[in-house]
Amino acid sequence: MNSYLFVCLGNICRSPTAKAMFDYKFKQAGIEVFTDSAGTLSYHVGKAPDPRAIRHAQDWGMDISDQRARQVTVSDFRRFDRIFAMDQSNLQDLQRMLPPNATASVELVMNLAPDYGLQEVPDPYYGGDQGFEQVLDMLETAASRLIEELARSR
Ligand code: 4NP
Repeated sequence: MNSYLFVCLGNICRSPTAKAMFDYKFKQAGIEVFTDSAGTLSYHVGKAPDPRAIRHAQDWGMDISDQRARQVTVSDFRRFDRIFAMDQSNLQDLQRMLPPNATASVELVMNLAPDYGLQEVPDPYYGGDQGFEQVLDMLETAASRLIEELARSR
């Protein structure tokens, strides 16, 4: 089974949403995957997702309220096949942590969808509703492209 870890800064907005969206799209496609999310920051560890992220995910019928924030660990680089960063800053933090025995690839999640025209999933934390909607829209495209990629390589 393929395993994917989604990483942002706080693990309360973008990456919990990413985990839910990829779970949702893969389930719809009938493909079993193992997913999780984590943050590079320790500040929100143990907390539920941001209420705005919960509300916007709910619009898609996705319940992310049970997720709890955790920090990326060195063992994640062996536990997962692919680690997807939301932005360049997350990617740089991950590359700094990368242990010599890492087996996971580390990349920007929007590398999956170059046609979308945006490389980074913008941090919606200090913005409004539109930011959270954009996060969902971008991640839906990224998940669809990954499913297409898997179908092509089968
Ligand atoms: P996230 O959003 O990385 O998408 O979870 C943020 C959440 C919290 C903070 C920054 C970004 N913060 O600075 O506390």
